[in-house]
Amino acid sequence: MDHFSYKNGELYAEDVALRAIAEKVGTPFYCYSSATLERHYKVFSGAFDGVNSLVCYALKANSNLAVIRTLAELGSGADVVSEGELRRALEAGIPAEKIVFSGVGKTPSEMRYALEVGIHQFNVESEPEVRMLSEVAQSMGKTAPITFRVNPDVDAKTHAKISTGKAENKFGVPWQDVSRIYREAAALPGIEIVGVDVHIGSQLTDLEPYKNAFNRVRELVQQLRAEGHDISRVDLGGGLGIPYDADIPPEPAAYATVALEAIGNLGCQVIFEPGRLIVGNAGVLVSEVIYVKQATERKFVILDAAMNDLIRPAMYDGYHQIDPLREDQKKADYAPADVVGPVCESGDTFARQRDMPYLEDGDLVAFRSAGAYGAVMASTYNTRPLVPEVLVKGDQYAVIRARPSLDEILKLDIMPSWQQS
Ligand code: LLP
Repeated sequence: MDHFSYKNGELYAEDVALRAIAEKVGTPFYCYSSATLERHYKVFSGAFDGVNSLVCYALKANSNLAVIRTLAELGSGADVVSEGELRRALEAGIPAEKIVFSGVGKTPSEMRYALEVGIHQFNVESEPEVRMLSEVAQSMGKTAPITFRVNPDVDAKTHAKISTGKAENKFGVPWQDVSRIYREAAALPGIEIVGVDVHIGSQLTDLEPYKNAFNRVRELVQQLRAEGHDISRVDLGGGLGIPYDADIPPEPAAYATVALEAIGNLGCQVIFEPGRLIVGNAGVLVSEVIYVKQATERKFVILDAAMNDLIRPAMYDGYHQIDPLREDQKKADYAPADVVGPVCESGDTFARQRDMPYLEDGDLVAFRSAGAYGAVMASTYNTRPLVPEVLVKGDQYAVIRARPSLDEILKLDIMPSWQQS
């Protein structure tokens, strides 16, 4: 459930008309709903009431400071994958002891920073990484709490580009080596093994892969304990899908049942890293129709938003519902059209031959479910300014990232002043 709905014939975010924001901020822009963020966080964390659990919101889905702060105030922790994200989490008010650090390529300086601030755990993904972490921690006289992310070799049945738990993927340590890797890591100075981590992919709409992976993790925890390791935490990653299209993913409560059936009686702290589930349906991308072009074979609706603002359709064939801001248009004269952006690539296409309502130049539309992996994946390709972000709360709104001016963008480049090497 989200808080974007038609009122008085117009699409609203909570009690603010998106058109009113468009008039002030210009298009395109992202708009997030505080109430939806709050609701999603509470539904997810509420599914684990009474369980020793920690919800670490995956910042990569949407790392705007105001969004993170909204979740921090509800008690959320953070899953970060870079020093930049770690700094964002801290800046937004998430305490270091609720932060886990994931990713296959943590650099020594990122490790140093994370050790300085004292994060909850490093989710280590390889043997060279744990050796480096040991060196860095030792040099600082610190101990790094770690889990290994294990690769359970299960098929998450999601888009290939966002599937991460198969043996062919770059993520995690190979299942058959886990025992040896834990044994060797336990002997390293500056390393304290605390648990096991798994994350099998994103936008999962089926619980079966989770069931398989979590059951494998349970057996692994029992095995590692038998081998003498003190396993007190299990990190089950994120990945639960959201409705974009007709596909209805399982409810958090059903996911919780699967998770707790598998690992609930191990006496571990259970950590989750949901990203999309929290922010996905809490955001829309609002854009204006620039032209409607009737070509020989097709009609093209050309928007002022492009693949650089929302890359999911181009990159993952992602589906986003596109709604007119005017409710009367939503009901009128549907006909197939390609919805495209102004970038000079054929891939800059949001929808192909989709039944669209009748739209004209100047009309406004909203891409639904654009709160996750939208603004964070935006670029300035074609020298288009990064799209601004707006947060709504009740009948108020705030710009939480401004649109940079073209002057600011041009100033980032520097004409060479040559220096002898
Ligand atoms: N934990 C780890 C270690 C991850 O790699 C990810 C996502 C998450 C948690 C959060 O997953 P979520 O709950 O959001 O599914 N850009 C793609 C999605 C990439 C996901 C990357 N990892 C998209 O737009 O579909």
